[in-house]
Amino acid sequence: MTDSAPVDPTSTTGWQTLAGIADGFTPDLRGWFDAEPGRADKYTFQAADLTVDLSKNLLTDDILAALLEVAKSADVAGRYQAMISGEHINVTEDRAVLHTALRRPKNGEGLVPPAGFTVDGQDVDADVHATLDKVYAFAEKVRSGEWTGVTGKRIETVVNIGIGGSDLGPVMVYEALKPYVQEGIEARFVSNIDPNDVYEKTAGLDPETTLFIVASKTFGTLETLTNARLAREWLWDSLTAAGAIDASDEARTGAVAKHFVAVSTALDKVAAFGIDPENAFGFWDWVGGRYSVDSAIGTSVVIAIGPDNWREFLAGFHAVDEHMRTTPLEQNVPVLMGLLNVWYSNFLGAQSHAVLPYAQYLHRFAAYLQQLTMESNGKSVRWDGTPVTVDTGEVFWGEPGTNGQHAFYQLIHQGTRIIPADFIAVANPGHPLKDATGDGAGVAPGTDVHTLFMANYFAQTKALAFGKTADEVRAEGTKESVVPARVFSGNRPTTSILAPALTPSVVGQLIALYEHIVFVEGTIWGIDSFDQWGVELGKQLALQVTPAVGGDAEALDAQDASTKSLIQKYLELRD
Ligand code: F6P
Repeated sequence: MTDSAPVDPTSTTGWQTLAGIADGFTPDLRGWFDAEPGRADKYTFQAADLTVDLSKNLLTDDILAALLEVAKSADVAGRYQAMISGEHINVTEDRAVLHTALRRPKNGEGLVPPAGFTVDGQDVDADVHATLDKVYAFAEKVRSGEWTGVTGKRIETVVNIGIGGSDLGPVMVYEALKPYVQEGIEARFVSNIDPNDVYEKTAGLDPETTLFIVASKTFGTLETLTNARLAREWLWDSLTAAGAIDASDEARTGAVAKHFVAVSTALDKVAAFGIDPENAFGFWDWVGGRYSVDSAIGTSVVIAIGPDNWREFLAGFHAVDEHMRTTPLEQNVPVLMGLLNVWYSNFLGAQSHAVLPYAQYLHRFAAYLQQLTMESNGKSVRWDGTPVTVDTGEVFWGEPGTNGQHAFYQLIHQGTRIIPADFIAVANPGHPLKDATGDGAGVAPGTDVHTLFMANYFAQTKALAFGKTADEVRAEGTKESVVPARVFSGNRPTTSILAPALTPSVVGQLIALYEHIVFVEGTIWGIDSFDQWGVELGKQLALQVTPAVGGDAEALDAQDASTKSLIQKYLELRD
């Protein structure tokens, strides 16, 4: 099946039924809830610890049945099975897609595929666990102080240098799991080639207690290698200035050995950079960068939160992988959420999708999802090279509530576009603070602040679903001329995701959930969600343009008129 023609979704009966329903579709969440008291229960599903309420979506039984038919016609379940078994479903790069193998338990019973399965001659489980063990052993050494810097001091700051999947995942998870970070260890993350990033992230650091992790799948990414060289210079200069090392090559090599480790699939390039391959952690070309947070790419986080928490994190992913693999489509949460996204994008005109965590620790979740979803599904050709037959790839975006409420929610509540939104919350906060004094009005002394926070979470989806009619606005005594501005149409779709607490397992579950949503949508659209050719042209042109930006007249002349005049302006402005 790997390079066979995908099913054209528009040719399926499910799709045709949906097109018929969408024609003149008038959603009526108020009416649907009134007519069916069991609607909330009927459309609420469980995936591991995640309770997922789909009832405030623009969904009826007919729509759901047609969406499920589309999923069956596209053989979502069969393609998932092909993926986890190691078939080369990444057709354009001729690679297996095996991120699910990164979180299979060691010697797990009843695993599918069975423990010890091989792909392209590789014993996948053995390699995954050998690398995990190596990462765990290293992390324990750093956490215990056994691993020291060149002057014998224990490591206090770990700086991850990477970009894209080698940055967004680790930084998001580190932020999400802050309450689990060992005291005395801090992680920082350098990604941008803007030199201010390295400057700011090394500012105030003690070189003797700093460990750099150069994280790059290819070890060929311009940003990461440039930043790694800047960090190495910073280390040498600051250790020399502190009198900790002299300027000899030997001293410098010794400093790199104690202050630099790497994560990559290209261990030869790691050695060429001067990092001892003994201090490098590998992974494999069947892990896409944006699917790699649970590989050795997460080493900075393993050091920060420890191997036990990391094992829990991986177990969370695996629980959702198993849900995806074993749950019938009708109750399968990633399948249902993926199908709803198709409904909104391809039939109701949605162009974007908001992800709104009511959990401040998830403040980088939307940024992380942007790469996961948009690098995966921003495609115009299908896996057999033919053009897609429908729109693909929504714009994912978001910020934590309640901050977003005071910024962009206006557009979600009363704008002209449909913006499906996922509201994510946890029942138990990391820090359950109380407002001892209250405000003398609605907030009583001693109020649990998480209760106030969650009241907002529940209120928002209620307002979006059910709105406020003109009569309800009038009944509040509103002046007639202002009534239209204060009407809320309702029927704005939301999904509510609720978990017990933001544990390592729950964070893993959330990531796996969205990975599989991406998979479902990509399969229906017939696209290869695992390549990313769209980022290549910009990289090539940046290299080609560099001499012109550096002032080379001939290179400047070779540019198109707009680029040339912009570079000229830049050169005039540059000191
Ligand atoms: O430019 C896109 C990309 O290839 C991403 O897919 C990847 O996550 C990122 O660059 C970083 O790549 P690497 O880990 O090889 O440095």
